[in-house]
Amino acid sequence: MRRIQAREAIVVVTAVAMLHIIPGYWYPRSISLTHHLPATNYYIQMLSPTPLVPIRLEDGPEIWCKLDFLNPSGSTKDRIARFIVEKAWRERRIARGTTVVEASSGSTSIALALVCAQMGLRFVAVMPEGVSNERVKIIRAYGGEVRMTPRSAGIRGAIAETERMAETETVFLPRQFSNEDNAAAHRFGTAREILNDLPGGAVDAVVSGVGTGGTLVGLYRGFCDAGCRVTPVHARPIEWSATEDAECCSFSTRIPGVLDSISEIFSESALPGMATVEVRGDEAMDTTRKLMCNGFPVGPSSGLNYRAAQLVAEREELHEGVIVTIFPDRMERYFSTELFGALA
Ligand SMILES: Cc1ncc(COP(=O)(O)O)c(C=O)c1O
Repeated sequence: MRRIQAREAIVVVTAVAMLHIIPGYWYPRSISLTHHLPATNYYIQMLSPTPLVPIRLEDGPEIWCKLDFLNPSGSTKDRIARFIVEKAWRERRIARGTTVVEASSGSTSIALALVCAQMGLRFVAVMPEGVSNERVKIIRAYGGEVRMTPRSAGIRGAIAETERMAETETVFLPRQFSNEDNAAAHRFGTAREILNDLPGGAVDAVVSGVGTGGTLVGLYRGFCDAGCRVTPVHARPIEWSATEDAECCSFSTRIPGVLDSISEIFSESALPGMATVEVRGDEAMDTTRKLMCNGFPVGPSSGLNYRAAQLVAEREELHEGVIVTIFPDRMERYFSTELFGALA
């Protein structure tokens, strides 16, 4: 009798443990799993992980690149959109008809627009004027609404507008710039996929540009979880300008999605031992074009990341190491920008 009870207990414990494994992601135990995701039309949770490929340009070093532009909406932001919205759904903080509102210069809004379209939610993107026209059209195509904030107020103005809306309307704010689930999506998703695909399963350096910082912080944590002694590297775009006294540099705004210090997720304490590699905006653009010429349909932040990874490979201590970076989004979003200027 006692043996049967023990066996039943094992079956129950195993079943509960299995229930917590949602394809690709690991949800905290506190989340109720009884509130199922939509059964009709909802295809995105069935998609496979994105490929991880070693890429060498000309005689340069080999860099392992995660092709996240192959996510369904065309960017890595599908991961955080799914993770945050699915979690809110399972916790019953949102339901069909809820309005989701997010401030984003593009990729996150597009990803949220797709996820909301899939789950029967309303979506409003709040964006600073001046984002590429393609982005606005894609969001509208998914049934999302776009509200513009003044260009001069930048992304901070867009964030303030979402907080103002939350005071007067019942809306759900994913808050990508302060929500730790942004990093968790990469820690429990992207990082695990990379480790599964990487021969040897160990990473020495992880390189990424920073918008919210979710990618770099999440990958770093995911690799540390697996026991890797990994150096996080911030790929920072800059512009050179000659002043009367000296040459100086400032943050480059030519790389969409990569922003200067506005996130609560990205901090030195979240990334101990972080190195920063500066890449000129024009170098990032040239590298993006080289990647396109090699058949990788990527946007400018991929060129930034790849060029920074090449510079990391030149460092003696990482010469033989495994360097991983990410290609966040697709080239089609940039037809009307300087990336394609020379091809017009
Ligand atoms: C195209 C693109 N690249 C890179 C990033 C940076 O990723 P993260 O926000 O995780 O730092 C973003 C962020 O929005 C982006 O849109």
